[in-house]
Amino acid sequence: MLPSHSPKNNQSDFQWKLTCSPRAKSTFNPIRNFVQNMSVKPNPEKTPIRLSVGDPTEFGNLPIPQQAVQQLSENILSGKYNGYTLSFGSLEARKAIADYFSSSNYYPIQPQDVLLTCGTAGAIELVLSALGDEGKNVLVPKPGFPLFQTIANSLGMKTKAYHLKQEDNWQVDLADIVSQIDHQTVAIIVNNPSNPCGSVYTKEHLQDIVNLAEKCKIPIIADEVYANMCFDGVPFYSVASQSPHVPILSLGSISKLFAAPGWRLGWVIVHDRHDILRNAGIIQCLHQLTMRMLVPSSPIQSVIPILFSEQCRKEQLRIMEELQHNANTAYPLLESIPGLRCTKPQGAMYMFIHLDLNVLAFENDVEFTETLWKEESVFVIPGSCFGWNGAVRIVLNAPSCVLTEACSRLQSFCERHSRHG
Ligand SMILES: Cc1ncc(COP(=O)(O)O)c(C=O)c1O
Repeated sequence: MLPSHSPKNNQSDFQWKLTCSPRAKSTFNPIRNFVQNMSVKPNPEKTPIRLSVGDPTEFGNLPIPQQAVQQLSENILSGKYNGYTLSFGSLEARKAIADYFSSSNYYPIQPQDVLLTCGTAGAIELVLSALGDEGKNVLVPKPGFPLFQTIANSLGMKTKAYHLKQEDNWQVDLADIVSQIDHQTVAIIVNNPSNPCGSVYTKEHLQDIVNLAEKCKIPIIADEVYANMCFDGVPFYSVASQSPHVPILSLGSISKLFAAPGWRLGWVIVHDRHDILRNAGIIQCLHQLTMRMLVPSSPIQSVIPILFSEQCRKEQLRIMEELQHNANTAYPLLESIPGLRCTKPQGAMYMFIHLDLNVLAFENDVEFTETLWKEESVFVIPGSCFGWNGAVRIVLNAPSCVLTEACSRLQSFCERHSRHG
């Protein structure tokens, strides 16, 4: 029965009173926003080259290891993987990840230290939800991947940016980190190898960061989605490998390593050797939070052991060879263009290019990007999307000949728009 004041009796008592939550309103992803709302059209006479989104599948030249694809289709047809798994992921998948990351550069970990998530994005959301709340803050690198801020803000948290030193191969400005820490700081996010900088930190630099975190008693969230994606023999060290005491939440996914971003499988690896997180109830919270969504999907979880098998890892090396080749091809071409200054990428899949606006006749990086798209049909992302004005980021995922063509278009573009005629 409807109560007497129901709309049936008096329609005017009821109005739609919907409001959007402040958290939702404060959710903003600068890269997605820029890419999806670009109103400038490319030059119809030139084939578009999109070096914008860090999607290794964009050009079809960096395939997912084929054995895993084959296994996935067999597993789906078998009908055995249509049910739920444990909320934090199947044991088989977590074991494969634990085994892979227990190799020499890492402290050994167990399957129970791994929680599966919906990509690294889901891992960021999971750890920030467990550590932070309204009014708390997290330290993020600048320039840095903007999703940290997007997710923190949508959880009601703030971000405080710490400086990366361009002149020092984008190493962390340790003094700046110290100056940003306050009583509300719940974590320091370290992204290594870096998006957008393409830098890879040395063991010694990681030790300095960990020592600082130890002194300030702040845990580290290590976004290591580009773990082991290094060029020319540069070694990768995980933050956890340098941290006997400080709790580290290491995040990753198969998105870049195995060129499978659409499969949406990521993880959090908990390194808590002194039970600091456990005693604070944070590990329990992480598990409770996984009970909301039950991700990633069971069929994708089922192929993780194959993906991390020796055969697939060999195939993965081909992805790395191509990215490395591209970094080595594009760097000298772009570095020689007057008005551009680059740091040679050591890993990940990006090059961050400084624009000298005393040489190039543009007001800012957004104008540069839009005009480049309009005249040369080359799509890049302005540095301001990463909190760094006066730069652009390119992705190194295109076939070498396409990347070379993009570099040559950038060269004529910069020459045409030089302030020096
Ligand atoms: C540093 C960094 N973290 C997280 C992500 C998100 O990755 P995923 O596709 O695994 O969610 C990306 C994607 O580009 C990234 O560059």
